[in-house]
Amino acid sequence: MKVVVTGAAGKIGRWTVRTILEAGHDVIATDRLLREESASKKFIQADLRDYGQVIQLLQGCDAVVHLGNIPTDVRNTSQAIFENNMLVNFNILEACKDLKIAKLVWASSETVLGYPFKPGDLSYLPLDEEHPTTVKSSYAMAKRLTEILSDMFYKLTKAQIVSLRFANIYEPDEYEKMPIMHWKDDGQKNIQKKNVWAYCDVRDAAKACLLAIEKDNLGIETFHITAPDTIMPDLSKDLVDRYFPDVSLKRTIQGHETLMAIDKARKILGYEPRYTWRSVLNNDGTTKKLPEDQLALSKTNI
Ligand SMILES: NC(=O)c1ccc[n+]([C@@H]2O[C@H](COP(=O)([O-])OP(=O)(O)OC[C@H]3O[C@@H](n4cnc5c(N)ncnc54)[C@H](O)[C@@H]3O)[C@@H](O)[C@H]2O)c1
Repeated sequence: MKVVVTGAAGKIGRWTVRTILEAGHDVIATDRLLREESASKKFIQADLRDYGQVIQLLQGCDAVVHLGNIPTDVRNTSQAIFENNMLVNFNILEACKDLKIAKLVWASSETVLGYPFKPGDLSYLPLDEEHPTTVKSSYAMAKRLTEILSDMFYKLTKAQIVSLRFANIYEPDEYEKMPIMHWKDDGQKNIQKKNVWAYCDVRDAAKACLLAIEKDNLGIETFHITAPDTIMPDLSKDLVDRYFPDVSLKRTIQGHETLMAIDKARKILGYEPRYTWRSVLNNDGTTKKLPEDQLALSKTNI
């Protein structure tokens, strides 16, 4: 397949370009930032706010992996995030319609579920794709509105559109900061601001993008994409009992399993996350000796 990857200079984009290339596809990588060392030899600098540039980029491709958004609530004003992300997402959907592109995968976010969560926001745990959405930032609004926009475009085109709600993404060399950032129990108030302790290794996020373009006949779908576990050393059921005691359980929670359920992605996409902080850190936060394959990947400059 000929695949365009937007946001290709970014965190998820760099790994996704490499993953899709390694699977044998032809990749055109694009970003508004120039990245000379992209894994793809075909890197085109473009601003996705410009529809003319989007049309030129996507012409003749079979699938689009759209990761080119401002990825955070911080460092930009609410207006700048909303304006950029909504316009860019509309342009990608519109160009896919106009060019009759068969498959689009794009990055939604865990934030549509209500980040930062308060106990009253949650109808049940683990959170699945059926759980009501609550948006609290312009970033989350743009993501949720793009999910709704995707439904509208699907009705027009019947092309495959997959929304991947990624949890907080970690690159291999970022795990060491996890204990300082997340394990310090600074009281009920702060810890409940987390996203039910969900996270995702960037290599698994890239694999999810690949799976979503390789599958056929998905129609319009939304999937949670996380690591198999939470960012905490505690058992997941203990976290729920401690911080969300009044939230009902939709099913039994096992061991350290993620509370942002990935059952649907497992079943329909065949997504099986391979990476967890538990292979890098001990439960007391000290570093384990890294397995050879993870060392190699964490040192790869992509
Ligand atoms: N990193 C996370 O924890 C996380 C979690 C959930 C969802 N996401 C989503 O995943 C996607 C990728 O995130 P990331 O972490 O790789 O972010 P990133 O900032 O590292 O990469 C995003 C890239 O998009 C590009 N971009 C933004 N606006 C553009 C425009 N108008 N034209 C062209 N390029 C543009 C940026 O230059 C950047 O290189 C985003 O949609 C983000 O919202 C990220």
